[in-house]
Amino acid sequence: SSSGPLTGRHVLVTAGPTYEPLDPVRFIGNRSSGKQGYAIAAAAARLGARVTLVAGPTALPDPKGVATVHVETAREMFDAVDAALPADIAVFAAAVADWRAASVEPEKIKKGEDGPPQLRLVENPDILKTIASRGFGRPPLVIGFAAETGNAVALGSKKLASKGADWIVANDVSPERGIFGGDHNEVHVIRRDGVESWPALSKEDVALRLMRAAAEHVGASHRN
Ligand code: C5P
Repeated sequence: SSSGPLTGRHVLVTAGPTYEPLDPVRFIGNRSSGKQGYAIAAAAARLGARVTLVAGPTALPDPKGVATVHVETAREMFDAVDAALPADIAVFAAAVADWRAASVEPEKIKKGEDGPPQLRLVENPDILKTIASRGFGRPPLVIGFAAETGNAVALGSKKLASKGADWIVANDVSPERGIFGGDHNEVHVIRRDGVESWPALSKEDVALRLMRAAAEHVGASHRN
């Protein structure tokens, strides 16, 4: 719609996995479907925002009315996020690979007599942490995700501090819960002043609730 609680706002969303190449045909990736992040981008647009979605490889169609930038690696995702700023609200829902190969082989790695190749990994940039700790140009509301197996609230609260986010949306992604790749999500929204635990909802409903709360939070502040 053309007018809503996020009209005049720019919302930036990351979603999906990243693929970190080993050689021209192989990569390190993860099982993120991108569904929750895509739903957040769509919800923000529905509430009137201008939305930039920076997406790793997914099987999903670009959300309608959303400027979608497709990337593969964490470093490409970082550059696309940086280029899309400033934003009023930034939501980091991507499952970014923590590591990449120290060097990418220009030719397909061959099976040889020396046994399996030894992969040397180096750390990827932490996009959320870098953006959240910026003085100038930090989005006024920075939302991160914490996909954990185990105590999502405790681990998410730690993440709120270590990343410098304003809110962390934490969930338990133990395989038996069917969150990764599934259509529903049960989340805890962790803020500095407390935790709100939401019931199991569709990823669309989680997205809409989150973006309504974000709209309320940024209220009538200066627009980016
Ligand atoms: O540390 P961890 O990966 O569990 O943190 C998850 C949060 O940090 C998510 O919001 C994710 O999008 C973000 N993140 C990021 N860049 C990374 C790693 C995580 O933006 N390299």
